[in-house]
Amino acid sequence: MPNLAILPGSFDPITMGHLDIAERALKVFDKVIIAVGINPYKKTLFTVEERIDMIENAFKDHNKRVKVDSFEGLLVDYAEKIKANVLIRGLRAVSDFEWELQLALLNRKLNRNIETFFLMTGYRYLYISSNIIKASAQAGGSVEDLVTDYVAQKLREKFPEAYKKSKR
Ligand code: PNS
Repeated sequence: MPNLAILPGSFDPITMGHLDIAERALKVFDKVIIAVGINPYKKTLFTVEERIDMIENAFKDHNKRVKVDSFEGLLVDYAEKIKANVLIRGLRAVSDFEWELQLALLNRKLNRNIETFFLMTGYRYLYISSNIIKASAQAGGSVEDLVTDYVAQKLREKFPEAYKKSKR
């Protein structure tokens, strides 16, 4: 039975949806590596260090079962390097499926020893994504219950003007 799985992603920033998927993965795998993909061509709101810090804060009570890491280059190469043969991806709606299928099949073509496991997110988080949360925060909208208090504070620090104007 596999006991080590990777939950890869951009995590810009980590959301309650990601946390939900990680919690579900921990019911099946002994250890989950939350791996932040570094893509120099993708513009992100938070630096890799900030993203790692927010993930570590979210999992501070999980002790040794969760490890936070980052990787550059191919995900399957990273998986091979750390001797993990399972990738976890969360699915929200049917709209996620097409891209996730492409990603999983490409990763399988790149390395046939690595399998992708899909986990369904909790219904409370079906509509949330890092992008929609950033868009709301940027306009001064509340992100309560969608991210941890720590991430909400980091978002306020990124968009101080929006929060000054908003009463939320
Ligand atoms: O949270 P995201 O943005 O959906 O995560 C995407 C991620 C980081 C998992 C994906 O872009 C990735 O695996 N990047 C590493 C580069 C790679 O392996 N590319 C081949 C598959 S597209």
